Amino acid sequence: MKIRIIGCGAMGSALAHILKEQGHQISLFDRKKEQAESLSREVGAPCAKTPLEGLQTEDLLVLAIKPNDFEEALASLQEFSGALVISVLTGITLAQLKKAFRAPVLRMMPNLAIRYGEGVVACMQDPALEGLKKTIDALLAPMGEILWIQEEAIHALTALGGSGPAFIFMIVEAMIDAALAMGLSADMGRKVAIQTIKGAMTTLESSHRSPGDLKWQVTSPGGTTIAGVRQFEESGIKSGLIKTFLAAYERSRELSK
Ligand SMILES: NC(=O)c1ccc[n+]([C@@H]2O[C@H](COP(=O)([O-])OP(=O)(O)OC[C@H]3O[C@@H](n4cnc5c(N)ncnc54)[C@H](OP(=O)(O)O)[C@@H]3O)[C@@H](O)[C@H]2O)c1
Repeated sequence: MKIRIIGCGAMGSALAHILKEQGHQISLFDRKKEQAESLSREVGAPCAKTPLEGLQTEDLLVLAIKPNDFEEALASLQEFSGALVISVLTGITLAQLKKAFRAPVLRMMPNLAIRYGEGVVACMQDPALEGLKKTIDALLAPMGEILWIQEEAIHALTALGGSGPAFIFMIVEAMIDAALAMGLSADMGRKVAIQTIKGAMTTLESSHRSPGDLKWQVTSPGGTTIAGVRQFEESGIKSGLIKTFLAAYERSRELSK
């Protein structure tokens, strides 16, 4: 498939890498020429001189610019008459997108782990996409877990899947700090933290048991884990994490008003 990516920042780059690896014909455009050229060298995909240069009716347009730049960008994108527009812009609704483009539109909320095929990709359901659903599923499948949702669920998906990786990275950061406090090197702490989290997630996914059950499996009477579990609860970490996700959820709702 021929796919033009508009915006070559963090998300544009993740999309370009995974789509190129799947054998699609990617081309890039960014208002900062050097940004597009740098990604072009990294991925091995050409840059376009203008946003819509050379696009045909069967081609795809992917919008990976910041929501604040949407209105300004529209002037040069509105004429797109290809097969599909894909938008990853937080807070720009399906109704806004449909009003702006004459081509069919997919609103999706990915996270950066799509780069490695381990992303969460929420796709907004829309009856207008029925005929394209198989194509879209095949296009996105290599990115990770694809979830078709009603648009109202977007804020929860943004908080859990979109912002979630940042909170997980903060937990890893805390584990590395703890490793340093216990006299290990940061490098060793990083290795142990990554593998521990990976192992825990594989166990959770493969065992089909609840997180609570698995926690008890690791916790022996009077042992080391229960000492940590007690401190975890006393510190209000679990409740703090719930509040963290809810803060992201509320902010996502605010931004789309
Ligand atoms: N990063 C994430 O984890 C994540 C997760 C889910 C969704 N998203 C969504 O993905 C979108 C992109 O996020 P990002 O983090 O990749 O942003 P970013 O790093 O700021 O990248 C956006 C790029 O687009 C360029 N740009 C702005 N207006 C343009 C225009 N009219 N034409 C061409 N290029 C233009 C920007 O140039 P300037 O530097 O000059 O502004 C910048 O290089 C956002 O809408 C965000 O909501 C991101």
